[in-house]
Amino acid sequence: MTDRYAVMGNPIGHSKSPQIHALFAEQTGQDIRYEAILVPVDGFAQAVDQFRKQGGKGLNITVPFKQEAWALATQRSERAELAGAVNTLSIKDDVLAGDNTDGIGLVRDLTGNQQISITDRRLLLLGAGGAARGVIGPLLEQSPASLTIANRTASKAIELAKLFHNLGDIEARGFTELAGKAFDVVINATAAGLDNQTPDIPDNVINSDTVCYDMMYSKEPTAFVRYAKQQGARKAVDGLGMLVEQAAESFYIWRGVHPETRAVIAELEA
Ligand code: ATR
Repeated sequence: MTDRYAVMGNPIGHSKSPQIHALFAEQTGQDIRYEAILVPVDGFAQAVDQFRKQGGKGLNITVPFKQEAWALATQRSERAELAGAVNTLSIKDDVLAGDNTDGIGLVRDLTGNQQISITDRRLLLLGAGGAARGVIGPLLEQSPASLTIANRTASKAIELAKLFHNLGDIEARGFTELAGKAFDVVINATAAGLDNQTPDIPDNVINSDTVCYDMMYSKEPTAFVRYAKQQGARKAVDGLGMLVEQAAESFYIWRGVHPETRAVIAELEA
């Protein structure tokens, strides 16, 4: 029987996950069905319960339910625990196992697909919300020279840095305190792009020595990618590869098979 999977979110209409998992399934010969489910903002637990009763095997969780999924999970991986959010649920009997593949997805896209080294590099992470928190652990695992978290609301960056202080040295700042600082890799984890805006950082932070990565993606270049290119960034890419890589890790968790991602990224780009 075909195993059933889905992504739950709100909104969900533009999700590329069904297409990505259909390509993975075709490539690996796995017999699965994967759909997108629009869940009312106050109906997440109910939707998961219903999916489970219908025999569903696994879920991807996206905005705004990742924290709720963390709370609902009856078991959590270490990386989900650190992230404080769950983007992958595996359903087996009474167990709802939560994992988070966002951070590894980012790291694999950066270091594998984009050939952007993080080890020994000075990293700047913009944003201190759920998206930022989800990637800090995996970024630190790569042993960067330094990690600075900067946020519009500086106090949230400071809180986040405290939360991860056991894993490495993290500096926390407000945007204006970035003036005059140099970074090798700048990662945008703010939600500014949703309003077609860019985080208001000092102009000299991004320059011809900087590589920029936007965790958001869109068909057109994102606002942050456009800004980074205007500033003369050495390279500026969006988060399409991260999306495919986090999906590949979820697929592996569910099916025990690693799909090949590059062809899928190329197909989505085309
Ligand atoms: P997410 O799960 O996407 O991280 P979130 O937890 O609501 O969503 O966090 C949104 C992040 O984007 C925050 O870091 C927020 O900054 P504040 O803490 O100061 O609100 C950031 N953000 C949203 N809009 C922004 C903008 N226009 N400029 C800069 N940062 C922005």
